[in-house]
Amino acid sequence: MMDWTDRHCRFLHRLFTPHALLYTEMIVAAAIVRGDARRLLAHDPAEHPVALQLGGCDPMELAQAARIGAGAGYAEINLNIGCPSDRVQSGSFGACLMLRPQLVAECVARMRDAVQLPVTVKCRIGIDERDDYAFFAQFVDALVAAGIDALIVHARAAILGGLSPKENREIPPLKYDYVYRLKRERPALAIVLNGGLDDLPSILAHCAPRAAPASGAGAAGAGLDGVMLGRAAYHRPRLLAELERAVIDPSWRTPDPEEIIESVVCYASGLAAGGVRLHSITRHMHGLIAGQEGARAWRRFLSEVAARPDAMPETLYAALPILQLKRAA
Ligand SMILES: Cc1cc2nc3c(=O)[nH]c(=O)nc-3n(C[C@H](O)[C@H](O)[C@H](O)COP(=O)(O)O)c2cc1C
Repeated sequence: MMDWTDRHCRFLHRLFTPHALLYTEMIVAAAIVRGDARRLLAHDPAEHPVALQLGGCDPMELAQAARIGAGAGYAEINLNIGCPSDRVQSGSFGACLMLRPQLVAECVARMRDAVQLPVTVKCRIGIDERDDYAFFAQFVDALVAAGIDALIVHARAAILGGLSPKENREIPPLKYDYVYRLKRERPALAIVLNGGLDDLPSILAHCAPRAAPASGAGAAGAGLDGVMLGRAAYHRPRLLAELERAVIDPSWRTPDPEEIIESVVCYASGLAAGGVRLHSITRHMHGLIAGQEGARAWRRFLSEVAARPDAMPETLYAALPILQLKRAA
């Protein structure tokens, strides 16, 4: 997520979940190919595995950016065909490419030729008035023919005229049924659901196996291959630990705030010499104890103390009394 899931945010999220695949913000392919790729792709080894999300519409440029990304150690290359912003539209990429499936297929094919890594696409279910299932399925089939390794679907259409990016994440209705149907009809394609997912039971249900048609089993899952969490994970990173525990490791426990602070102080101290301000890291920590006792005092500490230009990493220890209030399990 642009301006949110930068390297510092990913470092923090990794403390909550050792196994979830994390994604970069969308990085424009041209900036990687013609700009400062080293700076754009810099990350900490502790973040792994991380997928690099690219934006663009030039097959050769995307292939070149994918190659550079693979060299920088990313685990997957993802092409963003879901972004509705004006800036992206004026570059003729993002969600507007849903109207050009053959060009997207060409981009995927060139990226696949360029790297040994999984190449995936993130898209919407439709665009403007083209939000019927047949349009969506046809778009996906072009990508499947080009050899995508997985598809991530933000399950609402993008409205390109009239809605801001924020409204485009809230107003067009979520249509999970399109994604379920796609999975039923194309079981071999790995499909990851995105959009509005914020609680553990429903997330697990999206991924639980479907009942066999003749089994007569009651409520079953939707059989999807995964979920992508955006805002919920950012605002309440504890959810990532809950998922890790539910899906991967029953013994995994949510890291204590003390452990997080210790890791962040160490991480921030390592970066301080390079001029990274503490605030660049702590601005992603507002949700650390979201919904729990002390949450408001913690947010105030972050904005009033940790955000000072001269704040040292050790400043964070001063917040421990707030963070050590009795925590919900
Ligand atoms: C601030 C912000 C920036 C975003 N930037 C990106 C982006 O760079 N690439 C992308 O694929 N989606 C981006 N998104 C969309 C989210 O990835 C996600 O698709 C959307 O928020 C719906 O999922 P959610 O309900 O889990 O948040 C962004 C969302 C937000 C809130």
